[in-house]
Amino acid sequence: MHAFLKHLKHPMLTLAVSATSKAGEILKSNFRKKVSIQTKSLANFVSEVDIAAEHSIVTSIREAYPDHAVFAEESHHEMSSAEHLWVIDPLDGTSNYLHGIPQFAISIGYMLRGRAEAGVIYNPISDDWFYAVRGQGAWHNGVRLSVNQEPTLADTMVAVGFFYDRGRIMEATLAAIGEFFRNNIHGVRRFGAAALDLAQVARGDYGAFMEFKLQPWDHAAGGLLVEEAGGRVTNCCGQPLPLQQPSSILATNGLLHDAVLAIAQRHYESID
Ligand code: IPD
Ligand code: CA
Ligand code: CA
Repeated sequence: MHAFLKHLKHPMLTLAVSATSKAGEILKSNFRKKVSIQTKSLANFVSEVDIAAEHSIVTSIREAYPDHAVFAEESHHEMSSAEHLWVIDPLDGTSNYLHGIPQFAISIGYMLRGRAEAGVIYNPISDDWFYAVRGQGAWHNGVRLSVNQEPTLADTMVAVGFFYDRGRIMEATLAAIGEFFRNNIHGVRRFGAAALDLAQVARGDYGAFMEFKLQPWDHAAGGLLVEEAGGRVTNCCGQPLPLQQPSSILATNGLLHDAVLAIAQRHYESID
């Protein structure tokens, strides 16, 4: 039992943490080793480590709850209408991992009747645990998280992500970044693991995180963390995020939401 779990009591969080611990060992023991890689699409890779970690997590969940549905990046795409649904990214930040950059995480979200109830994001290299339970707050290694209180773009740092695209989505993202800078933002960061970007919005490092195409397994846990830390999460048109399709995302401290949304939406709408 992890000491930090004394803050939160939820059987699904306990299971998510234990599954994450085991998969974390797989990621850690293979880090900076030679691993076999396949290309899924342009600049989008999957390694044997992603697959082994996913297998380990899904096995842990199936052993405990054989009737729960699993929606995991590499191989398990079950129905989102299930009462109990686990949404899993076994390795968020694969490109970082394959380049030996220690910015990556396991992300597991547990959905109860279509709504995030518990979530864990874990970087096994830095041993950073980010976790949340609906109504019980968002936490980092035993410390309760709150979004920052930065009220304007000129006071904040924004994180962005790029989908695996070298066309209009990329151009629109770059245009939005330009506009952030013209609003005298403190800086833009692109660290390459969306789950950790969201965890860092929850911790108050960034006032906002924006990406024009993201998968449910990237934000299932992180979205709950942001909300439980007092922030706001929508797509780039201000609507709730869908559970089982890719969508744009904007996660903020709440105070900045409308200002960032105005920029994000204008550039997002230029994609179609
Ligand atoms: C990717 C990372 C990246 C984001 C991409 C994701 P993966 O996840 O989260 O930061 O910009 O859109 O696909 O492929 O490393 O699991
Ligand atoms: Ca991912
Ligand atoms: Ca992944």
